[in-house]
Amino acid sequence: MATTKASNDSTVDATQVLRPPAEVLHADELASLAKADNQPRPPGWQLSPKAVRSFICGSKAPKIARKFYGDDVLVERAIVGLAGNRGLLLVGEPGTAKSMLSELLAAAISGCSTNTIQGSSGTTEDQIKYSWNYALLLAEGPSPRALVPGPLHVGMSVGQIVRFEEVTRCPPEIQDVLIGILSEKLMMVPELHGDGRVLLAKPGFNIIATANIRDRGVHEMSSALKRRFNFETVHPIGELAQEVNLVSEQCQRLLDESSAKVAVGREVIEVLVTAFHDLREGVTADGVQVEKPATVMSTAEAVSVALQASLDAYYYGDGTLSSEHIGRHLVGAVIKDNPDDLKKLKHYFDVVVRQRSKDQGGPWADLGKARKWLR
Ligand SMILES: Nc1ncnc2c1ncn2[C@@H]1O[C@H](COP(=O)(O)OP(=O)(O)OP(=O)(O)O)[C@@H](O)[C@H]1O
Ligand SMILES: [Mg+2]
Repeated sequence: MATTKASNDSTVDATQVLRPPAEVLHADELASLAKADNQPRPPGWQLSPKAVRSFICGSKAPKIARKFYGDDVLVERAIVGLAGNRGLLLVGEPGTAKSMLSELLAAAISGCSTNTIQGSSGTTEDQIKYSWNYALLLAEGPSPRALVPGPLHVGMSVGQIVRFEEVTRCPPEIQDVLIGILSEKLMMVPELHGDGRVLLAKPGFNIIATANIRDRGVHEMSSALKRRFNFETVHPIGELAQEVNLVSEQCQRLLDESSAKVAVGREVIEVLVTAFHDLREGVTADGVQVEKPATVMSTAEAVSVALQASLDAYYYGDGTLSSEHIGRHLVGAVIKDNPDDLKKLKHYFDVVVRQRSKDQGGPWADLGKARKWLR
């Protein structure tokens, strides 16, 4: 695979890194979209809103694979809001692809998804705005050369999307920094004199933030900041068949990346996704009530169980994924820090899996064999 420019100043060879950013991984698709794109582009955008949508939701001509499964209207609203220069805040349960969506949007709009702030309680103002090279600062005083730009400074100077992950984990004073920047589109650098003192954002600059509703914090966001963002809630995938397709595709891609050849049958993935749906909803498709575990049964977790179970089959088995492998790894996904979840999972096996294994046999019977691992 060719090397691709992943950011303003770096070139990445996709074969030499563990996880290439979206603009590198999908460089060919972005190039063909740009070539075919004759629609109007907002100032500073690399693609038109139509082409950005095709990059995320897929298209036939040019042939682009769907990457985000679910609400296409949500994707359109998110793109239109960004085109109108409003910030975008993606909120939702863990593992609903908020970060993935923000990465895809940044890759398509700015050609760079790596200008990212990872929000935490320890995030400081100089980490997100700018800091100083202290050797140069001591030698020549504050100068543009001594300034070390942070993600917001970079995004504003080059006209690029800044991704702000888990924004509500940051202390309020850090969230407040965004208020001025989002409304005035300028950043003061009081230490500098002359032109460098006021940084005016170039067209193309915007902020896409994500926040997880299970973590404390969303409600602590100030109303002034809330007003500057378009909120979009990302929900888990509702349709079973769609989630089966997604888990199968992503598991296969991750196995290819690990050079592991595993036979992954669709019926096994169906069992996995059905179990996730049952536990997430608290009721099966046949109306049997099950207890919902406290753990989030997200699609991201389902992909990770499918991958781990497949690697188990590859390294310790005969290279064919069975539901028993799935069962062994389900334990790790469901039981995290709440001991009651073990009881709930056992109950699911005793009531739902046992019955399906009697009625349907096959992969459900194989899953039943994993009951012994629930300790
Ligand atoms: N609707 C969806 N479309 C495509 N992939 C999805 C979808 N929902 C979940 N996924 C899976 O989830 C993975 C990404 O999860 P991501 O880290 O973006 O979630 P998140 O919402 O940011 O979670 P967290 O709140 O824990 O940060 C994707 O790589 C994909 O495997
Ligand atoms: Mg995330």
